[in-house]
Amino acid sequence: MGPLAVTQLLALISLTVALDNGLLKTPPMGWMAWERFRCDIACKDDPKNCISEGLFRDMADRLSEDGWKELGYEYVIIDDCWMSRLRDKQGRLQPEPSRFPGGIAQLAKYIHDRGLKLGIYADMGTHTCMGYPGTTLDKIDIDAQTFASWGVDYLKFDGCSSNAVEQMLGYPLMSKALNATGRPMAYSCSWPVYVGGLPPNVNYTFLGDICHLWRNYYDIQDSWDSVLSIVEWFSNNQDDLQPAAGPGQWNDPDMLIIGNFGLSVDQARSQMALWAIMAAPLIMSNDLRNLDNSARTILQNKMAIAINQDPMGIQGRRLLQEKSHVEVYWRPLSQSASALVFLSRRTDMPYLYHSSLGKLSYDAGNYEAYDVFTGATVTGLNATTEFTFSINPSGVVMWYVYPKKASKQTKMLRKTSKLTWQKTVPRHRIAL
Ligand SMILES: *[C@@H]1O[C@H](CO)[C@@H](O)[C@H](O)[C@H]1NC(C)=O
Ligand SMILES: *[C@@H]1O[C@H](CO)[C@@H](O)[C@H](O)[C@H]1NC(C)=O
Ligand SMILES: *[C@@H]1O[C@H](CO)[C@@H](O)[C@H](O)[C@H]1NC(C)=O
Repeated sequence: MGPLAVTQLLALISLTVALDNGLLKTPPMGWMAWERFRCDIACKDDPKNCISEGLFRDMADRLSEDGWKELGYEYVIIDDCWMSRLRDKQGRLQPEPSRFPGGIAQLAKYIHDRGLKLGIYADMGTHTCMGYPGTTLDKIDIDAQTFASWGVDYLKFDGCSSNAVEQMLGYPLMSKALNATGRPMAYSCSWPVYVGGLPPNVNYTFLGDICHLWRNYYDIQDSWDSVLSIVEWFSNNQDDLQPAAGPGQWNDPDMLIIGNFGLSVDQARSQMALWAIMAAPLIMSNDLRNLDNSARTILQNKMAIAINQDPMGIQGRRLLQEKSHVEVYWRPLSQSASALVFLSRRTDMPYLYHSSLGKLSYDAGNYEAYDVFTGATVTGLNATTEFTFSINPSGVVMWYVYPKKASKQTKMLRKTSKLTWQKTVPRHRIAL
């Protein structure tokens, strides 16, 4: 279907939609079930890990007790496989009673009582990706109302089992329906990924009007290859994607897999750094009950989080791809600061990288840099100062760069970050 037909169809449903309800002025942070727990419904054999109310209560406990909530990780998000195979007599979605005996409203209360927010999953189409009841066009209003009545704060709306026309109608209609409930809910649209992720099939201006965030590309898997393929696609298409992001509207390269099985410590830092540059949602999918100290330290890095959550909300870009296979990423931040990530895509040994801020298009002036993962401060920088550092294979060096005459607020932020780095004492050890 071409863009012309799209416009004609949209005209038919008289759209005055804008889901501008003030939510997600910075990218959402939290935890989501899918990448780590998938569609594990084998509660008899695997009671601690199956998709059930106990799993979400456990994660809410961890978020609220282990220092995550204070850092901004606030959404607990249910993905596919929470539903009963059948709608109830009134046509409403209902949770599978054996796995969610208390119901979703009670789970929402549990989560809200801990100062957190609840996200839920539905699918624009006849069935969810795992075959549970989908939300067809005629069910959009009732499903939005059901979620609001339960106290849901965030909806991930997937797109399996629907065609392009249904999606074109359904995603804006759900935006309208969520708004009409009167309950402010964040709205995550999987629409772009089902139509190739790029213009002209995707109109990012329109998407920004109706959704708070959207999945542009394929699901992340637990591997460095997967992380790299996502970063590569986002960077190759940054001219289309980067301008689409801003306060209340975010590209979503998918979940943080830090703390699982697929990434080394260097690769975990790389994911955190690149997600911060991309202004990506920081939604972890891992087992917070069972996280090693290095993963915890990376995910709780205050400076990486502050860069991700910068109030200007400008997504960063890949600046350079060097012949050495070092790539440089850059994001402008408030208070004339910026973030730089130097990623080594080499596979041999730590690489000595030489550059200067001038080579990275910085203006003349005096700067300092805070090394996000070591806590070191680099002083005496100007645009021509040559610097050299070592980058591990598939690792990063990440700098927060600021003009030497930093404002009080910037100084405070740096102070806090440094403090955290030095006294990161994890409260939970690995239970093997
Ligand atoms: C509904 O949309 C209007 C217009 O954008 C906005 O002012 C309002 O906050 C929205 N309400 C909810 C509950 O989303
Ligand atoms: C994209 O959407 C915007 C906002 O709805 C609209 O003004 C614009 O005409 C659309 N662009 C195309 C190419 O359809
Ligand atoms: C920039 O810094 C270098 C030392 O790193 C120094 O030699 C040079 O004079 C400085 N240039 C300016 C314009 O301050």
